[in-house]
Amino acid sequence: MVIIDREKCVGCGLCALDCLARAISVEDGRAAIVKGCFHCGHCVAICPAEAVRIEGGDYDMRDVEPVGAGFGVGAEAFLHAVKTRRSIRQFGRECPSRAELETILEAGCFSPTASNAQNVSYIVFTEGTERLRALAMAELRKLKDDEQAFYTVFPPPMSLSRVHFEDDDFLFKGAPAVILTVSPHAVNAAIASCNMEMEAAALGLGALYVGFFARLAAHSEALRSFLGLKPEDTVVTCLALGPPAVEYQRTVPRRKAQIDWR
Ligand SMILES: Cc1cc2nc3c(=O)[nH]c(=O)nc-3n(C[C@H](O)[C@H](O)[C@H](O)COP(=O)(O)O)c2cc1C
Repeated sequence: MVIIDREKCVGCGLCALDCLARAISVEDGRAAIVKGCFHCGHCVAICPAEAVRIEGGDYDMRDVEPVGAGFGVGAEAFLHAVKTRRSIRQFGRECPSRAELETILEAGCFSPTASNAQNVSYIVFTEGTERLRALAMAELRKLKDDEQAFYTVFPPPMSLSRVHFEDDDFLFKGAPAVILTVSPHAVNAAIASCNMEMEAAALGLGALYVGFFARLAAHSEALRSFLGLKPEDTVVTCLALGPPAVEYQRTVPRRKAQIDWR
């Protein structure tokens, strides 16, 4: 619930102007809530008098940070970070710390979601990674001699020859931690994952999207039950995480994008 402190409100109307839901109006020189909204928090963020808060429903105003000067990433630095991010497939064995994983998850949780649904949840494996790996590999190996089943799970252009069934680390490449995003909304989960991957890189950690696992999880009852998924849940992304055991010296070229300026 959005609450406006009438004592603090200066009646500037910035919150009302920026409210997508038109849920705020300025009455008698003070902002007032006139209807419900989906709690995007723009009113909290824009208020010059710290007069707005969101309460209840798992919101915690202690999460709110001042934008502050000097926090900008810088356009050039950000683009460099995007270009130097690499999929890591060689990992050290040391598991990222709880604090590092929480920072990565925070980047996911504070990502945008359609209609501010915040409907992405996370399953984090640290000590449990080995059990996940063993079960996932067992499920993958069931498809080895059944072409039809394999291509149901991994439709072309995927091909059987790309899967190294004999390699225990084929899926997670020996990463000591794994974060799964679970959501009914694939775009929301993908955006959260993208921010988590960048946060991991900023922490000096390596990350790998394991699309093979996400597809496997969509088809394997054993995996779904192990993960405790509800029928409506989908594992949208799987991020393997750990210290990178490889160092890249430069960025890579990409095909020229087809961009249609109009
Ligand atoms: C959705 C998605 C799924 C992926 N799945 C896998 C995977 O299962 N195994 C793997 O080794 N790499 C996987 N990758 C990594 C891609 O192969 C990689 O992003 C691409 O080759 C470009 O390399 P880069 O990430 O280092 O720039 C995946 C990437 C994405 C975005």
